[in-house]
This record gives sequence, structure tokens and C-alpha cells, in this order.
Amino acid sequence: MCGIVGYIGEQQAAPILLSGLARLEYRGYDSAGIAVYDGTEIQMAKSMGRLKVLEELTHQGETLPGCSGIGHTRWATHGCPSDTNAHPHFNQSGSIVVVHNGIIENYAKLKKNLQNKGYEFLSETDTEVLAHLLDHYYTDDPLAAIEQVMHRVEGSYALGILFKDHPQHIYAARKDSPLVVGHSREGNLIASDVPAMLQYTRKVYYIENEEIVRLSKDQLNFYNIDGEPVEKESTTIDWDIDAAEKGGYEYFMLKEIFEQPKAIRDTISPRLKDDDIVIQELGMTDEEIRQIKRIMIVACGSASYVGQTARYVLEGMARIPVEVDLASEYRYRNPIYEENTLTIIISQSGETADSLAALRDAKAHGSRILAVVNVVGSSIAREADNVLYTWAGPEISVATTKAYSAQLAAFYLLALKFSKVRGTLSEEEFQTLRRDLEQIPEQVEVLLGMQQKIQRFANRYLAADHMFFIGRGIDYAIALEGALKLKEISYLHSEAYTAGELKHGTISLIEEGTLVVALATQEALYAKTISNIVEVKSRGAFVMAVTNFGHKEIEKIADYVIYIPKTNSFFTNSLAIVPLQLFAYYVSLGKGLDVDKPRNLAKSVTVE
Ligand code: AGP
Repeated sequence: MCGIVGYIGEQQAAPILLSGLARLEYRGYDSAGIAVYDGTEIQMAKSMGRLKVLEELTHQGETLPGCSGIGHTRWATHGCPSDTNAHPHFNQSGSIVVVHNGIIENYAKLKKNLQNKGYEFLSETDTEVLAHLLDHYYTDDPLAAIEQVMHRVEGSYALGILFKDHPQHIYAARKDSPLVVGHSREGNLIASDVPAMLQYTRKVYYIENEEIVRLSKDQLNFYNIDGEPVEKESTTIDWDIDAAEKGGYEYFMLKEIFEQPKAIRDTISPRLKDDDIVIQELGMTDEEIRQIKRIMIVACGSASYVGQTARYVLEGMARIPVEVDLASEYRYRNPIYEENTLTIIISQSGETADSLAALRDAKAHGSRILAVVNVVGSSIAREADNVLYTWAGPEISVATTKAYSAQLAAFYLLALKFSKVRGTLSEEEFQTLRRDLEQIPEQVEVLLGMQQKIQRFANRYLAADHMFFIGRGIDYAIALEGALKLKEISYLHSEAYTAGELKHGTISLIEEGTLVVALATQEALYAKTISNIVEVKSRGAFVMAVTNFGHKEIEKIADYVIYIPKTNSFFTNSLAIVPLQLFAYYVSLGKGLDVDKPRNLAKSVTVE
């Protein structure tokens, strides 16, 4: 939700800010803006629409000369996308300018107080409150003003601030929204995420909650909310900028779909040791694993659908009761905390506000927290007791694919590990499953070879109004993700239903030609799902079935069949999801939509 950048150094700031914003557009893209100190004044340019509008407006940054500045790409929360609501926001005299990612929850009250003091507001944003509040507290000490503002505001923020009277510095601060600081010989940078600065430096500092950083062209000073200096260690980023580039693919989503074999391999390989599974990062002794009474999985969106699959896998293999909750519901439902409950938070970004809040709630109630996270050093990773990283690399497309697959792989590892320690699988079963797990990356590669076949099929459904995805057990979890992929990037109404539940109401929506995607990968439930396919077929549905290689007889019922390579039923999600991702991709592409940046969405949901 929104991306912020900042630069101070020897070079022209505007082009650096624009190139940083280009790498953060996945966080929001309804408007963008930059502000640069030109040696006398702070100049600003901002506009509604994608970043390219701002690039054109500023002639790629040329119209805003100067060596220090801040920038923003927006996902609207307070006030619709517009030139006025776009960031940066000034104080009244134009001497302080702010960019902000997050939500100021008490902004209405603060705004009223400031209005009573004579401050005039131009925008509908919560951010403008920060600019005026800074002005209110500012004497001649930017740090002191920032501290006071941080004490007054409630909510979340990552801020970039420029003071006209102190042009040798830019300031940044954070609470519950991500912020990284980069140090290079040519200058210092701030950004919401590492890819925005990778072109200039690999040396980064992660800012903790309620910390402030003051950047000059060759120095970084860190402070806590009370202005006391804080010492920080730098981290060296070891992945390459190429990982965050399209690399010849038309869209990041397609590139990321094709990166899935690697993402899965990179996630499982380091943890496969000899005949065993070793997950050092778990930080749990065998005795602690044996003591687990319950697992609570909490996540949002696709990550929660990984949780749905994980429930079947963990319960089925390790015989541990598992509950799965949507983080946005969990945090307000007053859950019952029991001893020996392991809470697992799943998040690609590691910054999802609801998941982070759920983590804190569970932690405050004494639960041990394991995070399954993709972004190293993210808030969820830092606050969990232990982190099992998914090594999917940077995921840029708003629709998750490779991170989803890597998360599934992480849970297979966990389930196998827990089963072994708790003795719920024989050695032979364990070794067979372990071998099946190792084969998944190659099997995904086979499915990626269906690209053209699926594109042809997808092109027939560009004008469809709605679609249904049905399945039972793990197949239902796959259906949930398949339907979400389609709706988020193709704007096509798609619903996932447990196949057995259709006849309790939803089947009335099936009519001649309605596309039903039927997942039938669970051997134990195959016959039951076939009956449900017959039910929709006889009401006129056109059925695309996804089933295991060998079930040829399904062709007598379904109109179109995709076979996935044989694997254990616990692992079929990793395979069956691939054609569904490609299907969603090609429907979106065929409709001429922006696949990577669907409307109304953002990659990282850092607001409630
Ligand atoms: C999936 O394609 C989505 N864009 C979305 O549902 C996402 O999975 C969800 O917002 C959770 O994000 P996280 O994994 O970064 O926490």
C-alpha cells in the first residue's frame, strides 16, 4: 500500500526517485509524485495515474533539478485518486514536505484541532495532517518536531520528510509500515522496499518501529522516538536486480509463474539433508514438536488458501489439529488461546497489516509464533519467534504465484518434519513422500509446457460473465486459489465451492454453457467429485476438469481435461494450480488488462 522513496547525494535526485518508484509501483499505482529541493525552494510535481504520467510531466525528472528529494506512489485510502490527494503534501508555507505510507487513525481529530488553529487543508488525505502537525511543532529542530508528531499520531506510517531550512538532510521514520535505508558512495536513500535501491546499493539498514533516520549525502544517523541515538548494523542484499526485472517476459506474473520450479527447489533443497528433513530455523526441539497440541494458521488472501491446504497436509500427515483463520477476522474474534498452540503466520510480503496484528495478538497471549515469510527482514519476520523463509525471490506481480508455491512447499517440509518426530508416518512412508516432494519442481516444469494449450482455451472465455471452481478437500483449497487468481486479474466473477455443497443452493446458478472448473486430484474423493461433475453437466455446464494422469475415463464426462503428473494426494495443489494460474493470466492478457497491476489492488496490504 503506497511506496515511498528518498534520495540525498551527489547526483540529480529526480531520476533516482522516479526509477525507485518504478520498482515500487506494485505497492500502489493510482497517482505519484516527487518533491526536490532545488537550492532555494522545494519544487513538487504530482499527478493522478500511473508513474509514466509523472515521468512525462517532469521530462523524466529533468524539470526538477536538485540533489535531494522524496517521492511516492499511491494506493488511495483517504480521498479518491486525484492530483490533489497525490503525495507529497506540503505545510502551508511550502517549507516542509511529506510522503507517507500507512494510515493515521486519529487524523480526523488532529485535523480538527489544526483547523481550529487556522491550518487550511487542501486534500482529503490523512497525510496532510502530518505536514501541518510538523509545521505546528517545528521551531528550528526537525528531529524534535518529528518526535513530537510521532508521539501524537496513532496508526501506521513510513515517512519521508524534507525541510527547506535544513536542505542538507532528509528525514524518515516508521511505525508498522516498511522502511529500508540504503547507503552508497554517491548518496543515501530510503525506500519502502529493497528493489527500489538495488541499482545504487546493496548495503541496507532496516528501520525498527518508532525509529527515525536522518540522512545527509554521506552520513546516516538513527534515533529512537525520544531522539536518542541508535546503533544499527547494515545488511548486505545478496540477490540480484535481475530478480526484480521482467527478463524478457511481457508481464512479471508470467515470469513468476515460470520461476516456480526454482522457487520450490530453493525452498526445499536446503532443508533436505541425507534422508532427513532439517529445518534449523524452526528453533524447536523434538520434545517441543511432540508437545504441540494445536496449530493455528493465520493469513490473508492466497496465503490463507495455502493455510487451507496446510490444514489437510498437517492433519493428515502429522495428526495435529489445525485451525485456519483469516487474519482480518482472527484479530477481532477473541480466539481461545491454549497451551502448546503453535501459531503460524503466512505472508509473502511480511508486512500485511492484519497478519501482523494477528501475530502480535497471539504473541501477547503467550503463543509461540512461526512465520512463513518471503521478504527477508520484513516486520512479520522480525517479530515472529522463528521464521521459515520461502526462497521465492522478489515477487512483483500483485497476483501471487511463485510465493504461493514456495509457501506450499514450506508446509510440506513442516508436515514431514512433524510427522517424523511424532512418529505418525513409517520410515517408508516418510521416504516415499520425501521423494515425491523432490519431484515437484520437475513436474511443475512439465505443466508449464502446457502454456499454449491453456492460452487457446482461455481465449474462448474472454467474454464469460462468471465461472465456478469446485473441488473437495485439498481440491477445494486449490479451487479457492484458482478462483481468486481469475477474479483479481481478469475481473471475471469466479467462485470456489466445495463440490458437495453446490446442490445446497449455488447449483441454481449453473446454466447452459457456464464454465465449471472441476478439480479432481484427491484419489480418495475422486468418485464423489465425479458425481458432482455429472450434476453440473446435466444442468448444462461446460466442464474443464483437472485430474491426475491416468484418469482417462473422465473424458466421457468433462468437456476439456488437464492431466497433472502423478504425485501423492497431499502435494497435488502444487501441480494443479499451475494450469489455473496460466488460465487466469491468459484471460487477463486476452482482455487487454494490466496483468501485474489490477485495478483497486496493491501488492502489500499494509492497511486494515
Ligand atoms: C493474491 O494473489 C493476492 N494478491 C493477495 O490475496 C495476497 O495473497 C494477500 O494480500 C496476502 O499477502 P501477503 O502474503 O503479503 O501477506
